[in-house]
Amino acid sequence: MMPEWRSICLVAGAMALLGTGIVLGQGWDTARYEVAGKKSGYLYMDETTRQLQDDDFLNPGMFAVDAGRVLWERPDPVSGKSCASCHEDAETSMRGVAARYPVYDPASGGLVNLELRINQMLTQTMGAEPLAYESDDLLALTAFISHQSRGMPIEVAIDGPAAPFFEAGKAFYFTRLGQLDLSCSQCHDDRAGERLRGDVISEGHVTGFPIFRLLWDSMGSRHRMFQWCNTSIRAEPYALGSPEYLSLELYTAWRSSGLPIETPAARR
Ligand code: HEC
Ligand code: HEC
Repeated sequence: MMPEWRSICLVAGAMALLGTGIVLGQGWDTARYEVAGKKSGYLYMDETTRQLQDDDFLNPGMFAVDAGRVLWERPDPVSGKSCASCHEDAETSMRGVAARYPVYDPASGGLVNLELRINQMLTQTMGAEPLAYESDDLLALTAFISHQSRGMPIEVAIDGPAAPFFEAGKAFYFTRLGQLDLSCSQCHDDRAGERLRGDVISEGHVTGFPIFRLLWDSMGSRHRMFQWCNTSIRAEPYALGSPEYLSLELYTAWRSSGLPIETPAARR
């Protein structure tokens, strides 16, 4: 799976790092992961998982970012257009976008998150087919775009036309569900730091998505995580991209306000 040049770089990079002790990539001071009493999931991870995120050469999520960069530049075979032909350099044009999504979309009268915006672009500006939610390509483009906001604080709009969606997401967050009769809040506000089977429950912030989750051995979106949490309390999950999860995403992004984007984060 891993391209050969990349594994060579990985080994060379790791060897170079062993000598210097310098970390390439995120490797922030841990103080950055706590803002106004809110702690990123990073601080609930063990040392090995943290190291995986700290170093861009070791972070498996960087494969998705690299794959997203390729897709960004790839012209659609029919229209001949690529994302880059309109947006040019993503480092400039996409900087800060992930930090303020999801947003209210007047055209559809509902919320769109990054995944849905990317699909709108594909279908409406490029004449291409939409990508399946949770497909490798959509995760890659989402990771690539989100990565351009790494280090920027999350700040979403919850007023005006977004307000009713915010309220719906908030209600969802506090609703007890499933056979275990638990709300999101009862785990991520009341039980943060406690153990649940192999996991330490974090505060449930959305700073790192799409994340590379070791348990899944793959990338996963915010909505996949919501499904996983719903299923873990034996509640019926909603569909990926559903209005319920979009509202919940807006509320959780607001809860994470001020924390910096980490994409691609490594999680257990
Ligand atoms: C039974 C307890 C439980 C409930 C209820 C629960 N979760 Fe989780 N959640 C977990 C565990 C365990 C993890 C994995 C470890 C971690 O990151 O907290 C997790 C992870 C997450 C993460 C990833 C955090 C990160 O740093 O990447 C988010 C976001 C999240 N949950 C949101 C939710 C939302 C929204 C709900 C309500 C629909 C919910 N959770 C309900 C236990 C729970
Ligand atoms: C034909 C030109 C064109 C192409 C091709 C195009 N876009 Fe866009 N894109 C736009 C315009 C114009 C906007 C701003 C207006 C809007 O949001 O509809 C935009 C907005 C966006 C936004 C939202 C930015 C924000 O600040 O909210 C994202 C994300 C985005 N595009 C990603 C992509 C991706 C990914 C691709 C390739 C799959 C792509 N675009 C292809 C023209 C294009």
